[in-house]
Amino acid sequence: MSQPTTPQEALLSWFAENQRDLPWRRHYKPYQIWISEIMLQQTQMDRVTIFFERWMQEFPDLKTLAAASEQQILKCWEGLGYYSRARNILKTAQILVSEYQGEIPDKRKLLLTLPGIGPYTAGAIASIAYNRDVPVVDANIERILARFLNIDLIPGSPEAKKLFWTRAEELLPAGQARNFNQALMELGALICRPKNPDCSACPLAPHCLALHHDLILERPVPKTGKKITPIDMATGILIHQGLLYIQQRLADDVWGSLWEFPGGRMKKNELPEETVVREFLEETEFEVQVESKITTTIHHYTRYRVTLHCFFVKLNQTDSDPVLHAAQDFRWVPFETLQEYAFPAGHRKLISFLKKRKEV
Ligand code: ADE
Repeated sequence: MSQPTTPQEALLSWFAENQRDLPWRRHYKPYQIWISEIMLQQTQMDRVTIFFERWMQEFPDLKTLAAASEQQILKCWEGLGYYSRARNILKTAQILVSEYQGEIPDKRKLLLTLPGIGPYTAGAIASIAYNRDVPVVDANIERILARFLNIDLIPGSPEAKKLFWTRAEELLPAGQARNFNQALMELGALICRPKNPDCSACPLAPHCLALHHDLILERPVPKTGKKITPIDMATGILIHQGLLYIQQRLADDVWGSLWEFPGGRMKKNELPEETVVREFLEETEFEVQVESKITTTIHHYTRYRVTLHCFFVKLNQTDSDPVLHAAQDFRWVPFETLQEYAFPAGHRKLISFLKKRKEV
């Protein structure tokens, strides 16, 4: 099979492989898509799936729903909050039965006239239920677009809103709106998260302008102007006779007593490869040589952003006993046992990257 070439193809392939099994994704019934989208407006996915199943037991179709009392629907909504959503659902169901022969419209314009349905939900229903070529934009998709296209407008302004909708429409591949729009939503939930996006697992990474310019966490432009200090670090996985070298940090240090691969902060004008060699020497007295680049992980803390450049290294000496200068303990371990040790976030991301790639 040939490699995906466009970002759209890359995203669609990723979605085909990684989408969550959600109850309304089994049959794509318009009624179910509508209810799920209203529930998802202000509620987390885990809770929505539970409430959705219950709702469908109680009100399996539009006609049953339209005949229900407000008390019945509120009872079924109980615990989801924002109860005007439930009242609007009932009003809409009654309108659909009396004016639309019990069908949910597939046109954005008509959907927008119904209670509780705004631009996002109208786009979601038209595209997900009917596969109409209609874009969707919510805060998650704004974040993806702001990063992917390196858009530096502050979200929320009319100018930014207009631009996000225009870009979403331009990117939409004709005839694929159902999967494409859901793929964007899924990417926002699973990979391109507000904090700690997992760029190493992102299908859009090769095309992502903010990633290319190292601006991922400045996009979308934060509203508060909160200052985040970037920190660049480098680390090396040393493999010797099939085992990996790990060491346990000092108890009173940052990330005290966690395990790590040796490494540290890059000095001014230092290349990450040079940092790794220097840090190994300082921390373990091992002379090592960089073999290959693995990946770069990014982790976001409240006030810092740590970019960790990761490499495979090998020993340039025969002695495999370190002299510890920055650690309380060390081990040579097989890759499969790493999960038994606690690592800081950047190193955890590195390990899961390797696990996915099956590189060790
Ligand atoms: N968030 C809102 N709608 C969604 C959907 N259809 N799939 C995944 N996440 C969503």
